[in-house]
Amino acid sequence: MKLTIIGTGYVGLVAAVCFAKLGHYVTAVDREHIIQDLRENKLAIWEPTLQEMLETCRSDGRLFFETDVAHASKGADALMIAVGTPAGVSGRTDLSQVDHVIAQLKQAEDVCPPFIIMKSTVPVGTCDELEADLHAAGLRTEVVFNPEFLRQGSAINDFMNPDRIVFGCRSHLAKAALHQLYRGINAPIQVCDRRSAELIKYASNAFLAMKISFANMIADVCEDYGADNRQVMQGVGADRRIGPHFLQAGIGYGGSCFSKDLQSLLASGNAIGRSLPLLEATAQINEERIPQLLEKLISIWGNPRGKRLGVLGISFKPHTNDIRDAPFLTLLRLCYLYGIEVQTYDPVVQPATIEGVCQMDTAYEAAAGAHAIIIMTEWPQFAELDWVLMAQLMYQPILLDGRNVLSEEVISRLMAVENVIYIPVGRPMEQTTLTLKRDTSTLRHIYGT
Ligand SMILES: NC(=O)c1ccc[n+]([C@@H]2O[C@H](COP(=O)([O-])OP(=O)(O)OC[C@H]3O[C@@H](n4cnc5c(N)ncnc54)[C@H](O)[C@@H]3O)[C@@H](O)[C@H]2O)c1
Repeated sequence: MKLTIIGTGYVGLVAAVCFAKLGHYVTAVDREHIIQDLRENKLAIWEPTLQEMLETCRSDGRLFFETDVAHASKGADALMIAVGTPAGVSGRTDLSQVDHVIAQLKQAEDVCPPFIIMKSTVPVGTCDELEADLHAAGLRTEVVFNPEFLRQGSAINDFMNPDRIVFGCRSHLAKAALHQLYRGINAPIQVCDRRSAELIKYASNAFLAMKISFANMIADVCEDYGADNRQVMQGVGADRRIGPHFLQAGIGYGGSCFSKDLQSLLASGNAIGRSLPLLEATAQINEERIPQLLEKLISIWGNPRGKRLGVLGISFKPHTNDIRDAPFLTLLRLCYLYGIEVQTYDPVVQPATIEGVCQMDTAYEAAAGAHAIIIMTEWPQFAELDWVLMAQLMYQPILLDGRNVLSEEVISRLMAVENVIYIPVGRPMEQTTLTLKRDTSTLRHIYGT
């Protein structure tokens, strides 16, 4: 098939290389400076194997880059929209990027392909409205909704091996075209109406966010009662009706999707006078995670002003350089507020990405002279660091393990080092017996012991 994809972000570019790999001819469209870089095989986003796949598909003559929507759409069997749909006013989805693409198609004569495949996450009813708009302009195209469920950090693998593929479409022709597009991917296919497909995407993200907030809520109870959240969730997740995924307590969810999709669903509910209290609680629990964690450090430090915090991991999750809605940004804002200095290390986020942040070249440099260190993302290499050395490099060896990445073995080695305080999430903290003088009544207060 000849496919045109508008938008070469995390979803559009991954879809472009994967469909090209599946044997289709793909033309991907984006803004001038982005396309210029892509034509030189330069990627702004970091995803495992993406670079290699991009180069292979281009040299095989299956992947092309363009800047003009009309030109790229001419003769295409289908046009896929994968532009951003960020949060707008009062949580409602900002559809301006989608609207802009539709306007470009309406302006150009005789180029609109027979199918427009909406990949961007859009509120329920959007595809109906867009199709009506296109028909009113005389364009006989069918808009189908084909939600994307890939996870950043494993995007290529997720795209090629999805749990399911959803086609929200009206006609047999559209269904057949989508089947042809996805031929080669072995996954269950669900065909349904467009509104249901649109809601499947929002409901899936809301449910995943809810699982994370649930795990974090139970983690707080574990800390209060001296239980171990990892054990609790292992027992809970072993139930096949629940499943083990997304039950890890930590710093809360981040990234470009969960928060904005939850807000969008809440806004959709509001628009029809329906409250969605489970989603409100999910968002509230998540918003409290970072302030709560920082509070633990402040309770130990006493006065936070002038303290230096080492931060491991900036992106919202490992194996990606995406910092959109990363919990680190909330942490950073609070640190500014309290007068805490921040020095960070991230394996793939380029230095100088965030203004005013002191980004180090190694984790050890981020630990040097720090009054505490916090692990924000579960990059595997963080667990492999020489944590005894890390503690020795610090001014005050307080380790806040926001992702529970340190093994029991590492923790017990740490406990042989003077003055160490290890603060995990969802289980009691550990500290070496010989400690600095500090107000232990506050510690008792935090952990209820
Ligand atoms: N990122 C994810 O993990 C993920 C997963 C599933 C679904 N989604 C959804 O997919 C959509 C895209 O997400 P993303 O993370 O790839 O966004 P992104 O912001 O990374 O990429 C969007 C791209 O579209 C381009 N663009 C915007 N308007 C354009 C136009 N008129 N012409 C050409 N290019 C244009 C932008 O320049 C940008 O490169 C969103 O709706 C998102 O909710 C994202």
